[in-house]
Amino acid sequence: MCGIFGMIGGGAVSNTLRALKYLEYRGYDSAGIAVKGDGGLKIYKTEGRIQNLVDIVPQGLQGGTAIGHTRWATHGAVCAENAHPFYSPDRNFAVVHNGIIENYLTLKEELISQGAEFSSATDSETVAHLLMREYNGDVLEAVQKTAKQLSGSFAIVIATTYDQRLFAVKRRSPLVVGIGNGGVYLCSDIRCVSRWAEQVAVTPDNTIVVTGSDGVYFYDYEGNAVQVDFFDAEEVEEMEQVKGEFMIKEIYEIPERIRLAKREYMRSGLQLNAETVRKFKRIYLIGCGTAYNSGLQVAAVARKLLDIDVLPVIASEFIYDNYPVDSKTLAFFISQSGETADTIRACEKVKEQGGCTYAVTNTKSSQLAYACDRTADISAGGEFAVASTKAYNCQLITLLLLMLDVAKIRGTLDVELYDRVVAAVDELPEAIDNILNDSYDIARLADEVKDCSAVFFIGRTTDYPTAAEGSLKLKEISYIHSEAYPAGELKHGTLALMEEGVGVVAIATDGDLKEKMALSIKEVVARGAKVICVSPYKFENAIPLAIPAVDKLLIGVVAVVPLQLLAYYTAKRLGRDVDKPRNLAKSVTVE
Ligand code: AGP
Repeated sequence: MCGIFGMIGGGAVSNTLRALKYLEYRGYDSAGIAVKGDGGLKIYKTEGRIQNLVDIVPQGLQGGTAIGHTRWATHGAVCAENAHPFYSPDRNFAVVHNGIIENYLTLKEELISQGAEFSSATDSETVAHLLMREYNGDVLEAVQKTAKQLSGSFAIVIATTYDQRLFAVKRRSPLVVGIGNGGVYLCSDIRCVSRWAEQVAVTPDNTIVVTGSDGVYFYDYEGNAVQVDFFDAEEVEEMEQVKGEFMIKEIYEIPERIRLAKREYMRSGLQLNAETVRKFKRIYLIGCGTAYNSGLQVAAVARKLLDIDVLPVIASEFIYDNYPVDSKTLAFFISQSGETADTIRACEKVKEQGGCTYAVTNTKSSQLAYACDRTADISAGGEFAVASTKAYNCQLITLLLLMLDVAKIRGTLDVELYDRVVAAVDELPEAIDNILNDSYDIARLADEVKDCSAVFFIGRTTDYPTAAEGSLKLKEISYIHSEAYPAGELKHGTLALMEEGVGVVAIATDGDLKEKMALSIKEVVARGAKVICVSPYKFENAIPLAIPAVDKLLIGVVAVVPLQLLAYYTAKRLGRDVDKPRNLAKSVTVE
């Protein structure tokens, strides 16, 4: 949602600005930095991208302490006034915040009644005012008193003129602490902080962090020490080394990442014993956006393999609806970032109701991984484009292998079929390489799509989830209206929307459903729509987007790739920012 960073140590200003570039995928409406130097706290902030901030920070500005923020607006318009950091009125505190302070209006009204004047329309500025009001000579005490008054989700980093140290408060929004290379660091993202830190720790909920040259200390709101373990920081790829755009690079990584995802799964295995697996009566696949679509896809495949319900559920629906959960429930929580608030809340609900929780994530040291009983690492590598691509393919691989193992243990899948499908995973990278090699043809198809008034993605059974993911990709980076529909459902209303100028992308990978899909294509063509068909087969009246035939249980991993490319090239034709599309953020850490 937003990215926050703070550090004490050499190069604090330049490193904070670099960290913000790394965190820009989390939100890029506006950005700011507070630097603590001889003259106290100095804030620079601006609307727009990090580069706009770099351009206004004085060259060579020095300071041993800095905090920074890149924003995805929740409360208050996108403008410099609403950018973080925020001063307290006396300028003795500067704060940055990621999350939503749900009771900020009550607090703000109380502060205004006491004479406070606000410079922004944000919830976050309230924290700066509270710190000033609660300060009575002891910064930690002021932070404790402030934290106790806040409800909602927040990771807040605080710099102050009263103390050399940095202070932070964490509840539901991610906050990683790093130490090493002569500095101490606070950050939203573990990969980012690992660029400098040698040791990192994930801050528990409802914890106050105090970092200084004498070390890092964790307290609860009452001031009791909290034990938090540090572990070695992961090696991270140098983001700056990626030239050009992330999205197309990440699509071209898919073949190699599929190999790594399978290798990681074969190393870690199911991590559940046979007795436990046999007791389950239902399985949930829970996530948001692309992560949910991967669950949708795998549920469609798992229905062919298992004797129990496998239900894909949107996390934000799961939280507030009444899905049955008990000790015989196995819930997979799918999340590339492992920081999506809706998914984490759904996990907490399943845990409260006694279910078995299993994270399927690209971020092993994420909040979700910590919250779950088990974790499977999808091994997709750093994914920085807001539009998720390689993570989707790797989620499918990991989830499909998990389902195959569950089915084998439950005796609903014979060993020969199990071995065949597991071996068939090894054929996918080459199949996808073939598609990537023909990406020029797909780029030309973007000319067919870019001027469409709307684009409908259609498919049946396991092709419908692929349609859903293709539609999400297109709309989130090209801004063309798009919907996914089960192909058989069109005639129950949606056909009314078919006319000249409307595009349809049909996904037809199942040979048993060829005639049915041919009928659906005829229906929309007869009403003026233009059709592109992703299939190993040929269809009349449709522009072919051919894909290699692979094992039918795995073809969803392949069929999505042309759609990822089609979305990319269409967005490029339209001059969109494919890595950072408008209004979005890579990791939505608020509900
Ligand atoms: C996908 O292209 C989107 N960026 C978005 O739907 C994303 O998949 C969703 O927010 C879930 O993120 P997560 O996998 O990190 O939980």
